[in-house]
Amino acid sequence: MQDSPGRRGLPRHAADERRVGALIRDMTLEEKIGQLTQVQGGEGAIPDWLHDSVAGGRTGSVLNEVDVGIANELQRIARQESRLGIPLLIARDVIHGFRTVFPIPLAQAASWNPEGVEEAARVAATEAAAAGINWIFAPMLDITRDPRWGRIAECLGEDPCLASALGAAMVRGLQDGAPNPRRRVAACAKHLAGYGAAEAGRDYAAASIPEGELRDVYLPPFRAAIEAGVASVMTSFSDLNGVPATANPFLLRQVLREEWEFDGVVVSDWNAITELAVHGLTEGDRQSAREAINAGVDIEMASGAYAGHLPDLLRSGEVSEAHIDEAVANVLRLKQRLGLFEDAFTPPGGVPTSTAEEHRRVARRSALESAVLLKNEGEVLPLRADTLRSVAVIGYLADDPYEQLGTWIFDGDPDLSVTLLEALRERLEPAVVVDYARGMETTRSRGRKYVDEAVAAARRSDVVLLVVGEESILSGEGHCRADIGLPGSQAELVAEVAATGRPLVLLVMAGRPLALGDVAERADAILYLWHPGTMGGAAVADLLTGVESPSGKLPVSFPRMTGQIPIYYSRRNTGRPATAGMPVPVEEIPPRAPQTSVGNRSFHLDAGDTPLWPFGYGLSYARFEYGDLRLAPDTISAGDALEVSANVTNAGEVEAVEVVQLYVRDLVASVTRPVRELKDFRRVRLAPGETRRVGFRLAGAQLAFHGLDMRPVIEPGRFRVWIGGSSAADLGAEFELTA
Ligand code: GLC
Repeated sequence: MQDSPGRRGLPRHAADERRVGALIRDMTLEEKIGQLTQVQGGEGAIPDWLHDSVAGGRTGSVLNEVDVGIANELQRIARQESRLGIPLLIARDVIHGFRTVFPIPLAQAASWNPEGVEEAARVAATEAAAAGINWIFAPMLDITRDPRWGRIAECLGEDPCLASALGAAMVRGLQDGAPNPRRRVAACAKHLAGYGAAEAGRDYAAASIPEGELRDVYLPPFRAAIEAGVASVMTSFSDLNGVPATANPFLLRQVLREEWEFDGVVVSDWNAITELAVHGLTEGDRQSAREAINAGVDIEMASGAYAGHLPDLLRSGEVSEAHIDEAVANVLRLKQRLGLFEDAFTPPGGVPTSTAEEHRRVARRSALESAVLLKNEGEVLPLRADTLRSVAVIGYLADDPYEQLGTWIFDGDPDLSVTLLEALRERLEPAVVVDYARGMETTRSRGRKYVDEAVAAARRSDVVLLVVGEESILSGEGHCRADIGLPGSQAELVAEVAATGRPLVLLVMAGRPLALGDVAERADAILYLWHPGTMGGAAVADLLTGVESPSGKLPVSFPRMTGQIPIYYSRRNTGRPATAGMPVPVEEIPPRAPQTSVGNRSFHLDAGDTPLWPFGYGLSYARFEYGDLRLAPDTISAGDALEVSANVTNAGEVEAVEVVQLYVRDLVASVTRPVRELKDFRRVRLAPGETRRVGFRLAGAQLAFHGLDMRPVIEPGRFRVWIGGSSAADLGAEFELTA
């Protein structure tokens, strides 16, 4: 029974505070600092230093221990050998699955399905908890508009509304979903804040974000996670506007604790406290420890600045005992809420085999809903197995059980993977010849090895499935790319295969949007798979053969070329936006064209001002039509709500899911507002010919933004609203917000 229901999340009990207070009064300074110290585990062993540190109360949390026997022994040492018997937090990055790997988070974001994302997180937490893990460093909630950044793979896209809904779903799945309430897991919203705005998409680079944009774009997903009850927050490596997040009182005290009333744990990122000196904020570890604890970082991950310097900082008065006790209380409260004082041990049996099959079913549905159909000219897809005699499957990513898993899969098991080639062979043979060719050494290879055999396979087939993209190592932490085109000689391979004239279906596995430019023009159909996880092959075979229609929608804009970055839908209008038909193709600009002849407007001469595919875009095997937009009423006050609805019709021949999206624009405001902002969305499944009225309730409060004084404001005036299947929706109407 929760004494104080308050926010969702781990159970809260009034008794927690009494027990926490009593413990703190009983603790030595060394034991207090021990609770603020997280060390890297022995990775399958318990070296003497770790045993002694846990038994001595000098470590309160261990990272990267995934053997349940070791985890239980560490808990035994903590519970039985340490003076106060305080149990351990045992943490792991479980970003998109543990043993069963789900599509990368960016792919899951393309499903626009909070329920599916929550279910995937529940499975991940169940598998991780069975290994003794009770703290998962997810969800990653960084907004980014820069696909050069390798960690875009881990994030939930460019939009705060979508990322907030899906991030909160991940928190619920991780924390609330585990079948056994005694095996609860704490989630961790990371990385607060602004990490995705790293300069030039170069990981760990400084981020400069005006406070209004920080509050309207980068912070909302963290707020949503906290409203969903997330138990902890991790600070970002970032230098945010000159103050690294790990020593940033504005973020960690003013916003997190005072404005949002967060009472969970704040953990630094790996070595981020000692790196404050590298940033140039401090002289060294002693000052770094002071700045971090005073800014509000509770637990130090991996480095030893707290252990090494907090006693002296306390003695000198540079750090107060109150700050240390406050941090210790946050940690002990979390351990209480996880039930670790009652039962810190994990049954050693692991996940039952029957459950493992259910987990793979969930992973298959997640991959099926994450793929995005970007092009399908001549309805090349779905493959018509009844008329097909042969299909060429080209590209080794079609049959690599490891690469399809994506980044951050420390505990993923490639042996569980179903590759696309396997799935297609099982599905199509012997009636259809499935002709495989590797096509390339790696995605980064240059030269023509494997090209001739690939082209030959294409020539002798009715249709070509060409799998291109990135190996998993080309995205993820520290893996950024300055050119987000297809790596290696893949573009040339696409050109040679396309030249055979056979219907060409491009299947793209990648950890980011790729600038496909000319490559996209050569394909008849393009299905974007991201890195689809363990069951990716089976799911994609379902889509290719029409068992299900693709329903994914882009969670990020796709640049035509790298030079367009940053390009995103919710931009501000400028005083000179490009107008229809601008610019003329650069190669058509006549010689000595007069200075203003091509239009002094906001675009690139060689790329225009629009992405190749916009946020929210995705095709289907059906065809959805929107009409009869209705607003009720068409004038509201800030405290009211507007009912906005439209008819959505499946004008196609197959049942399919459409993600219906609601966008708004504040036409005039005290600070310029984005030309569109996503405010709501819903997945609807429609039978062929079916029309359904889909409605949204748009509250006045959803029109708030941070004004010049950095306070939330809702300003009267005219707004435009759209309903459609992407951020380019054109079914719109205006409404009035009155004072
Ligand atoms: C990494 C990542 C962070 C992760 C942590 C522990 O450097 O930035 O997301 O949770 O270290 O592995």
